[in-house]
Amino acid sequence: MTGWAGVFEGLHGVERVAADSGTGAGVAVPRLRMTGITKRFGGTLALDDVDFEVLPGEVHALVGQNGAGKSTLMKIVAGDYRPDKGRISIDGRELGIRDPRSGLAAGVGIVYQELSLLPNMTVAENISLGRETTRLGLVERAPARQLAGEALAAMGVDSLDVDIRVSQLSLAEQQLVEIAKVMSHGPRVLVLDEPTAVLSLDDTRRLFGALGHLRATGAVVVFVSHRYGEVLQLCDRCTVLRNGRVVAREDVASLSLEHLVRLTLGEAGAPRHRQAEQATATASAREPAQQALLQVEHLAVGRTVVDVSFSLYRGEVVGLCGLLGSGQSEVARALCGDMGHVEGTVRLDGCRVRPTSPRGAARLGIGFITENRRDEGIFPDLGVVPNVSAASLRQSWARPWLPWLAPRSERSRARRVTDEVGVPRVLEGRSLRLLSGGTQQKVVVSRWLARQARVLVCNEPTRGVDVGARADIHDRLRALAAGGAGVLVVTTDLDEALVLCDRLVVCFAGRVSTEMSARTATESSLFLAMQGIAPEGGEP
Ligand SMILES: Nc1ncnc2c1ncn2[C@@H]1O[C@H](COP(=O)(O)OP(=O)(O)O)[C@@H](O)[C@H]1O
Ligand SMILES: [Mg+2]
Repeated sequence: MTGWAGVFEGLHGVERVAADSGTGAGVAVPRLRMTGITKRFGGTLALDDVDFEVLPGEVHALVGQNGAGKSTLMKIVAGDYRPDKGRISIDGRELGIRDPRSGLAAGVGIVYQELSLLPNMTVAENISLGRETTRLGLVERAPARQLAGEALAAMGVDSLDVDIRVSQLSLAEQQLVEIAKVMSHGPRVLVLDEPTAVLSLDDTRRLFGALGHLRATGAVVVFVSHRYGEVLQLCDRCTVLRNGRVVAREDVASLSLEHLVRLTLGEAGAPRHRQAEQATATASAREPAQQALLQVEHLAVGRTVVDVSFSLYRGEVVGLCGLLGSGQSEVARALCGDMGHVEGTVRLDGCRVRPTSPRGAARLGIGFITENRRDEGIFPDLGVVPNVSAASLRQSWARPWLPWLAPRSERSRARRVTDEVGVPRVLEGRSLRLLSGGTQQKVVVSRWLARQARVLVCNEPTRGVDVGARADIHDRLRALAAGGAGVLVVTTDLDEALVLCDRLVVCFAGRVSTEMSARTATESSLFLAMQGIAPEGGEP
């Protein structure tokens, strides 16, 4: 376990509590037992007759690929969703969990990946929300601050000011506050649904310490995570979901990371690259001495990216892959001038560049498709043509606001690219806000086709996009590369990486763990590399 061994060096004070502690001899009554849980969303069978059981004092991992059904199962425990079939009991008592409040009353606390904090309230106010004490009709501040201070201290977090507004905290700090809030209710069942994706390794270590204290009180933790190193370090047992079914239930002690990956993915043997022949042609066309289009050397960004080096050649689609929070998305933002605290060297066609804004990067010929399309990628109130032209015009101040001033050539150029991507012309006049996510993203891709970007950096280009639009977008990105550009795709999606890219650069904990050819990679070898384990036969 090359990757995680270093990460968890010095992780002390998290002793394993025996799974049956506090229950005496004999078979323990499960703290949480779910039997025959079935849940359908329209045509999707999200959960199919799932049995799930957690024993007192246990930290139980729930793993599976995206869409396997983990969050749905946990939302059922919390009472957010009602199952179509099945039973739930806590400590042997059957529950009729109807809504989140009764979940809370039954002792279930859940931390979602999306935060539920109120940004304009302080840390103390957020943690004590719903439990305020009043005196003469006024909310007392001291008890709230004390509650918050104690909740954070119990997690080993003592550096956080409880009087600060949540909006002023980093994402990682907000996540810690969220966890402290849920833990301060003293849950008997604590569910953490991918809580560590935005946490640094230090924060994660502290959280592990806090979970150690919690389970010593007999509470159970259900831990949903894609970081299998953490799973193997922290958990006692593990349930694996695949396509809404339980495929394995294992003691973690007897489990290797490789085996866990196999259980998660099932048989995923053969290479997936659809365009194997074309990719081979591209790769062999590259002269050994050809200069890289984009060369990244020892890039470091803030605390997230430690040391990342790789090259991108003309005609290539390179995937920058990793589990969420491994640094790949910060690398993309840094290349596009959208991050501070950047060190290292970036060369474009051999010349050193340091874009300091996305606009500056665009001037150099580096296009950027953000993962946050709604807030940063589009002008929602403008139509298709001005959105496509946004990057390619030498902007007169009036253009984005007075699109009817746009000359006819602008429209015909926009049409040429939107036709290629498959944006129907009937939608041309409509505000982007009113179009589907897939169509919006096609418009964003069109923008950089029109601009003829030398390098296009895409951050999760097809997240939240339907399958049809996804295939169209993939086609266009490949066509852009075939026309001589270089395309860098940041993705956490195994399938996208294997299907779209020629070469994969895999990040782990802020460094490049492996580079591999997407033609020969498999889901398992890629997923292992994302966990920090270099696969055998991986190409240097
Ligand atoms: N509210 C919902 N409406 C429709 N489909 C949903 C909803 N929530 C989840 N699904 C579907 O159920 C399946 C399981 O999703 P989810 O539980 O979120 O998976 P995971 O958390 O393992 O990634 C997926 O196919 C997902 O698209
Ligand atoms: Mg989920």
